Amino acid sequence: MTDKIKFFKEAIRTLKTSGTVMPSSSFLAKKMLRNIHFASADVIVEFGPGNGAITKFILRKLNPTALLICFEINENFYKTLTEIKHSQLIVLKSSAENLEEELHKLGVSEVNYIISSLPLSMLPEKITDVILTQSYQVLRSNGTFTQYQYSLSNRKKLKLFFRNAISLKFEFLNFPPAFIYLCKKVG
Ligand SMILES: C[S@@+](CC[C@H](N)C(=O)[O-])C[C@H]1O[C@@H](n2cnc3c(N)ncnc32)[C@H](O)[C@@H]1O
Repeated sequence: MTDKIKFFKEAIRTLKTSGTVMPSSSFLAKKMLRNIHFASADVIVEFGPGNGAITKFILRKLNPTALLICFEINENFYKTLTEIKHSQLIVLKSSAENLEEELHKLGVSEVNYIISSLPLSMLPEKITDVILTQSYQVLRSNGTFTQYQYSLSNRKKLKLFFRNAISLKFEFLNFPPAFIYLCKKVG
């Protein structure tokens, strides 16, 4: 079975938390990572890696001393991710809302970048608020929170946290086509 079919089966079974039926295309994955300065990034966090469609591109570019910390709640996606043998990859079966607690356990206080595929529009608002509050808190100054979404439904919410430091991109070559928010922590 191909990775896409495996993803489709699992995503259909857990649609409420997966929020899609297809993994991200390589076009979307690469565009999500375009602003990252990998040479100077020590810690990158990924929320909702699924079966690793974006993860694999991050791992290819990670500098030799950097860490990639992934948060995934789906048991089967988590198992798939743990099969990626990479010494700089930490996969946690934990919700993004536990960000600060999990980083604390790892002895990490700040992160350079957060790459999120979370289905924000499907999460309860309280959970979204916890995730965005903690994300803003742990990001280093000038760090970015990058999120894709198939609509602009969470634009206002992201503005509450990142104010005007948000730029928007669009990737047509994905199913479905997706908006990408690049949210910068200024100051
Ligand atoms: C739209 S899929 C994206 C998968 C993959 N990153 C991609 O782009 O193909 C969303 C992923 O977020 C995960 N997810 C949903 N809620 C989550 C949460 N609170 N914390 C961590 N992961 C979550 C789902 O299990 C799913 O793997």
